[in-house]
Amino acid sequence: MPITTCVFDAYGTLFDVGAAAAQAAREPEHAVLQHVWPAIARDWRLKQLQYTWLRAVAGQHCDFWQVTQDGLDWALEANGVTGTATRTRLLELYWELAAYPEVPAMLAALRDRGLKTAILSNGSPAMLDGAVQSAGIGDLLDAVLSVESVGIFKPHTRVYDLVGGHFGCAQDAVLFVSSNGWDAAGAAGYGFQTAWVNRAGEPMDRLYAQPHHVLPDLTTIPELA
Ligand code: LAC
Repeated sequence: MPITTCVFDAYGTLFDVGAAAAQAAREPEHAVLQHVWPAIARDWRLKQLQYTWLRAVAGQHCDFWQVTQDGLDWALEANGVTGTATRTRLLELYWELAAYPEVPAMLAALRDRGLKTAILSNGSPAMLDGAVQSAGIGDLLDAVLSVESVGIFKPHTRVYDLVGGHFGCAQDAVLFVSSNGWDAAGAAGYGFQTAWVNRAGEPMDRLYAQPHHVLPDLTTIPELA
């Protein structure tokens, strides 16, 4: 079936989640991050995601802002960083993450081809609103869908159901794009066509399904649709 709807994961896919720690580390008042920021960025993201999966399995949902703070607290402690000012600054930056440079032109090209565009994210509506506004891409999106409306995190199928519920499209008319290998695999298992944006050159996740396309960045997405 032809693609009618192109749906993007948010954090790590449209928005650069490593940018918060990198930016804070450049600020003199947060010099404590100078050498440890790459480890903090990595541990923060890993714990944030682990907490989403664990909470989904345990039936202990809370919103993504809570797991974002919990993941950061673990990462700061693991890397020996104390002090509330640095914690506060890192969290503040999470609300204004930069979009990857190719994002606006890529979304505009999809729109020009008559496709619908959307975000489908673990992020809370307020977090997503902040990131979309600060990246200036609100006019290029038909919908911003948050897991908060179903109260469970990806890759639960209830989350992917939100796309058909909103757009009324068939599963295989959706191209779902994520930089998270597990998310692309989950969406492929659900029945979406999928593209995994593998910026870091990671190995393929060994899961129950595999993405249909593997790309180095988002530039060629319009060619798939
Ligand atoms: C999201 C996370 C998984 O935006 O990156 O849903």
